[in-house]
Amino acid sequence: MDHFAIRDSVMHAEDVPLPRIAEEVGTPVYVYSRATLERHAQMFNEALADIPDRLVAFAVKANPNLAVLKVLQRQGCGADVVSVGEMRRALKAGIAPEKIVFSGVGKTAAELVAALEAGIGQFNIESEEEGLELAALAAGTGREAACALRVNPDVDAGTHDKISTGRADNKFGVPIGEAGQIFGRLAGQDGIRLRGVAVHIGSQLADLAPLERAFAKLGELVSSLRGAGHEITHVDLGGGLGVPYRADEELPSPAEYGAMVARVTKGWDVRLIFEPGRVIAGNAGILLTRVVRVKRGLKHPFVIVDAAMNDLARPALYGAWHDFVAVTPRGSDMTANIVGPICETGDTFATGRLTDTLAAGDLAVFRTAGAYGATMASSYNSRGFVPEVLVDGDRFAVVAERIDAAAIMDAERVPEWLG
Ligand code: LLP
Repeated sequence: MDHFAIRDSVMHAEDVPLPRIAEEVGTPVYVYSRATLERHAQMFNEALADIPDRLVAFAVKANPNLAVLKVLQRQGCGADVVSVGEMRRALKAGIAPEKIVFSGVGKTAAELVAALEAGIGQFNIESEEEGLELAALAAGTGREAACALRVNPDVDAGTHDKISTGRADNKFGVPIGEAGQIFGRLAGQDGIRLRGVAVHIGSQLADLAPLERAFAKLGELVSSLRGAGHEITHVDLGGGLGVPYRADEELPSPAEYGAMVARVTKGWDVRLIFEPGRVIAGNAGILLTRVVRVKRGLKHPFVIVDAAMNDLARPALYGAWHDFVAVTPRGSDMTANIVGPICETGDTFATGRLTDTLAAGDLAVFRTAGAYGATMASSYNSRGFVPEVLVDGDRFAVVAERIDAAAIMDAERVPEWLG
């Protein structure tokens, strides 16, 4: 459930009619609902009620906006970060350093040092090489970094290839068959305290079975590590739970996920860490856009909107579906190609899509754009960056200003020697 609904013939975000936001802020614009973010964080926590020793670390990559992070911080969330940039955002939003987990295969030495200095809660080490480097950096400054070893369980998540992370040939983690030995070699290093293991097999998972297989393998690893004398106190189960992108899509609920986790992890006697991103933020945001014009097409008309692939990359990158609906539906529909203004055919949001009848000047929304939306934007075609708005009841605030093409150009220089 979210808080974007038609009321008195106009789509509202909570109690704010979307045309008001379009008028005051312009389009395209991302709009987030505080109530939905809070509801999702609460639902996720309720789903894990049987797992009292847990940390829910929101995957900042899904939506790093400071106001969004602040809403989630107030719900008790920690943060899963994959760069120092994300770490600084989490800290700025007031998330305690000890609730921050640092994942990622390519943490640079400078990033490791910055995270050590910030005193974050856990480094998820993705290779023996990284573990040795972190150990040396930490020992050199008299610190001890709490770490988990990320393993690659060789489980196919059954999701889009580009967002699958747990197959043997993916770049993430260490092969599960070698994890015991690598753990043993790293555990003896000064500078790190290897206290657990981590896994994340992919995103937008529509089926719990692959997650369950991965967690079961992790459970066996925990037993064998303990058998070898290692103390295991933390296990990070990653994120990945999918969300419905279409009204008629059935996905496992957080409650079903929670029940599965409770069953599989029974008796592990560890603190469990979760890194949900999409399931918290996905349906808490929409991209509000205006129709520039409707152009006749051979088969279907082209509804050309003022948002483009640079603003919402998912359809172009993954062929992803986002429901597309009018803000003020006329009660009739049309079949159309929904496209942006960018000069490549990939800038197509939908082909042959049954949608509300739309005309030039109308407002429309792409739904489920709160995760991996604004954060994946670029300035391609010199289009600038879309603003973001957070709604709270009947009020709203711009929580990221529009960065227009001129501001981006201002950061560029033509060297004198070019005349
Ligand atoms: N933890 C780790 C280590 C991750 O790599 C990710 C996502 C998450 C947690 C959060 O996963 P979630 O709960 O959101 O599924 N840009 C793509 C999604 C990429 C996900 C990358 N990793 C998209 O738009 O679908």
